[in-house]
Amino acid sequence: MSKKLIAPSILSADFAKLAEDVQAVEQAGADIIHVDVMDGHFVPNITIGPLVVSSLKKTTKLPFDVHLMIENPEKYIGAFAKAGADWISVHQETGYHLDRTINLIKDHGVKAGIALNPATPLDTITDVLGLLDFVLLMTVNPGFGGQKFIPYCKNKISQLKDIRDKHYPDLLIEIDGGVTTENIGELSQCGTNVFVAGSAIFNSEDYKQTISLMKSKL
Ligand code: DX5
Ligand code: ZN
Repeated sequence: MSKKLIAPSILSADFAKLAEDVQAVEQAGADIIHVDVMDGHFVPNITIGPLVVSSLKKTTKLPFDVHLMIENPEKYIGAFAKAGADWISVHQETGYHLDRTINLIKDHGVKAGIALNPATPLDTITDVLGLLDFVLLMTVNPGFGGQKFIPYCKNKISQLKDIRDKHYPDLLIEIDGGVTTENIGELSQCGTNVFVAGSAIFNSEDYKQTISLMKSKL
C-alpha cells in the first residue's frame, strides 16, 4: 500500500491549549501535524506565525506540515523552517516565481509542496511537479475549518494520481478540507496520501476512535 498519513489540522484545536491538543492527537495515532498559517489578505482569516510553531514544536515528536495561506510566502519560509517546519506548502495563486520559491523551501532542507485552490487547474503546476515532494489540493475554499468537501475536487485528485503514477511515483497527494470519517475511504481510493482533517478530529468526542476509524478506511 502507498503511504497514507492522517494530518490533524490544529485550526480546529483549542488555541488556549494547543500543546495539550497536539499531544492528544499524537497519542491518538496522528502521523503529522497540519498548521494553517493565514494572513488576513490571501484568506479572510488570521491565525498563527513562526513563534507559535517554534514553541509547539518542542511539545511533540510529530513532524509539522505548515500550510502557508499568505501573500508573499517567500518572505517567511526561512522563519518557518527555523521554527521547525518539516513540510511547507505555498499557494500557486500567491506567487509569480514558483520555481524560485520551491527551491528556497528545499534549500532549507524542508519538504516542498504547492497548494491549489479548488478553482485553480492542475495544469498551472505540471511543469514543476518533478521538483515537489507533495501537492496540496484544497477541497474547500481556504480560510476556515468545518466546511463541506467540494465534490468537483475529486476529479483533480484522480487527475493528479494518474500523472503521479505515470511520472512521479514519489509525489504525495495531500487533500485539505471537508475530510470526514464518512468520505475518507472514497478519497483514499482516488489516490490521496495525506488527509488533513480539522473539525472531524478535534470536534469528535474521542480522537483515538476517530483516527483509528479513519485509518481503517484507507
Ligand atoms: C482551511 C484549512 C484547513 C482546515 C480544514 O483553509 O487549510 O486545513 O483546517 O478544516 P476541516 O477539516 O474542518 O475542513
Ligand atoms: Zn490547511
